[in-house]
Amino acid sequence: MKLCRMHLNILVTGGAGYIGSHTAVALVEAGFRVVLLDNFSNSDFSAVQRLRSLVNQEVPFYEADCRNKSDLIHVFNSEKEQGCPITGVIHFAALKAVGESVEKPELYKLNNVGGTERLLEVMEGFGVQSLVFSSSCTVYGEAENIPVDESSPFLPSESPYGFTKQACEKSIVQHAEKNIGFSSTLLRYFNPIGAHPSSVIGESPRGVPNNLVPFLCQAVAKLRDPLTVFGTDYPTHDGSCIRDYLHVMDLAEAHVKAILYLLQAGNSMGCRAFNLGTGHGVSVLEVIETFEKVTGMKVPHQFGKRREGDVVAIWANAERAKQELKWETTRPLGQGLLDSWNWQQKLGEEFDL
Ligand code: NAD
Ligand code: UD1
Repeated sequence: MKLCRMHLNILVTGGAGYIGSHTAVALVEAGFRVVLLDNFSNSDFSAVQRLRSLVNQEVPFYEADCRNKSDLIHVFNSEKEQGCPITGVIHFAALKAVGESVEKPELYKLNNVGGTERLLEVMEGFGVQSLVFSSSCTVYGEAENIPVDESSPFLPSESPYGFTKQACEKSIVQHAEKNIGFSSTLLRYFNPIGAHPSSVIGESPRGVPNNLVPFLCQAVAKLRDPLTVFGTDYPTHDGSCIRDYLHVMDLAEAHVKAILYLLQAGNSMGCRAFNLGTGHGVSVLEVIETFEKVTGMKVPHQFGKRREGDVVAIWANAERAKQELKWETTRPLGQGLLDSWNWQQKLGEEFDL
């Protein structure tokens, strides 16, 4: 089926956030009309302004909360009244701090699972049948077979955050079973890193970052203590944990492919999960080494104890995305790390931390 992208209006929830803003840029560049929604619980309006400047367009934005059905109805209605009914949704809006989720499990459930359920109800009310969902490789827990593929079972979740991703996926599958014609891609991201090469948008973590690359960049910028390598005695080639780091621009492009896949498949598809990763595992020490090589900067670091809840090693079998979405990563680790560092420097120059 041939689709005219200009007439496809894609709602991006969590559009002011890290992955949402990069995806919005990729969608606009691919010719879609894009509408952003965010409640700024982990972002602010400057991200919207920066992405608008990058695409040189007044991308519509709604300050709205996915937990609030009337907020969502307002967004869907306003777009309809302007003659651009929403055709598909990419749902990024969620809280994602693993440590915080342990302290506030109810908040995570209400926000992530409740927000997804309200969104599904409103989509149904407006006859919107296509949903791209932001899931995570965390749904696999400590997977038995590495590289992990999509048939790997959900193991008991390591954190309330991980539980919310499993619960959302299950709600979406149930919704599809009840609503003939509804279809969804469940995108299980591995470890996104990097920023737009222009350094106009990137990740702006609030407070002390938990994730490796943002912390590493802030440690190099001397905004934090030296990086602690969590664990040196794992059964890996150098004793540190292994993950699959993919560039956020590659990830953004996967969302464009995923929404096109859904819209082209029409009402015949149901739900389909996809791993989004490079297919290669890299250790924490290799990340440090590559960062030093591409930036010429030393990474101040020390060796520490294992972090509770960390899996030893996980990387993606991303064959399904390659075969069915026609997507694979193209940007090497070094480029992701360099783009993260360039963004960090820009943050230091232009924005208050
Ligand atoms: P982010 O925090 O930068 O973006 C999420 C955005 O959603 C934020 O702007 C936040 O303000 C907004 N938001 C949160 N709850 C909301 C609500 N109830 N209503 C409206 N807006 C709300 O995070 P991100 O890294 O861009 O992650 C996007 C999605 O990808 C999340 O669902 C996250 O769980 C998932 N994910 C992220 C990673 C990662 O490493 N970044 C890995 C796997 C999965
Ligand atoms: C973490 C979350 C995961 C979530 C993902 C994206 C945990 C247990 N898992 O994944 O649920 O989907 O973020 O938000 O929190 N590391 C250090 N020093 C640091 C920080 C990290 O050595 O200061 C190591 C970690 O031990 C890990 C690797 O770097 O081996 C990557 O860590 P991180 O960026 O937090 O991602 P994940 O643990 O894969």
